[in-house]
Amino acid sequence: MHPESFIGVYDSGVGGLSVLRAIRDALPHESLLYVADSAHVPYGEKTQEFVEQRANTLADYFVSRQAKAMVVACNTATAAAIAQLRRRHPGLIIIGVEPAIKPAAHLTHTGVIGVFATTGTLASPKFAALVQREAPEVRILLRPCPEWVRLVEQGVLTGQDADAAVRAPVEELRAAGADVLVLGCTHFPFLRDAIQAAAGPGVPLLETGAPVARWLRHQLQERGLLRQEGQGQLLFETTGDPAALTELASRLLGQPLTADATPAQWR
Ligand code: SIN
Repeated sequence: MHPESFIGVYDSGVGGLSVLRAIRDALPHESLLYVADSAHVPYGEKTQEFVEQRANTLADYFVSRQAKAMVVACNTATAAAIAQLRRRHPGLIIIGVEPAIKPAAHLTHTGVIGVFATTGTLASPKFAALVQREAPEVRILLRPCPEWVRLVEQGVLTGQDADAAVRAPVEELRAAGADVLVLGCTHFPFLRDAIQAAAGPGVPLLETGAPVARWLRHQLQERGLLRQEGQGQLLFETTGDPAALTELASRLLGQPLTADATPAQWR
């Protein structure tokens, strides 16, 4: 593998752009290929087998294009598939995302934290093990929010509809004592303003983009694969509609972009 090679980043849809944004900020010399598996979004309510099969397809695609690393920028896919992805591609750096339970357990004063994620993430053995390992003494309130994923995919990030969708779940966990809220799905940082307004000013909303970018940097450095100069390229592909991804990703990242379709055999 060569340092000039690229890093593949994928998600069920546009949520992983919240992680891509952090990677681009931390690693500006790296070229990134983002694939939105938009033909199959959302993953959150699908079976583990389905999400695993999509993870294999996407990983095989990145490997066929000689990626030097892969970031699974999706909590549901990480929970369902990261272990078997690493077995399938032992030579590839594979980084996943997981809800920020550890920092939340350090920050809470009430001993209660709230976690918003998909049903798939919250029901996974990987999530149960994370809670057991990092926060055995803390009370964890879980709230699946599949409708938040749909809102972000529709580009509804602020305004009445976003406020109405987040208000009840956030207020419910706040009323139950949660003083730290974990955004356990990569789509949710795009609803940050609405969630913060419902939670109240000072309530920490924890996401994972920046720590993932730091861990990726460390892994690349350790293997001599970190690119130290030059401007990294950003490429976007989707298994769905390239025009829709172009429009939405440009809005979410605040810069004009173009997206292509992934080759048919990988859709
Ligand atoms: C989804 O596709 O349902 C959201 C994926 C995630 O957990 O980030």
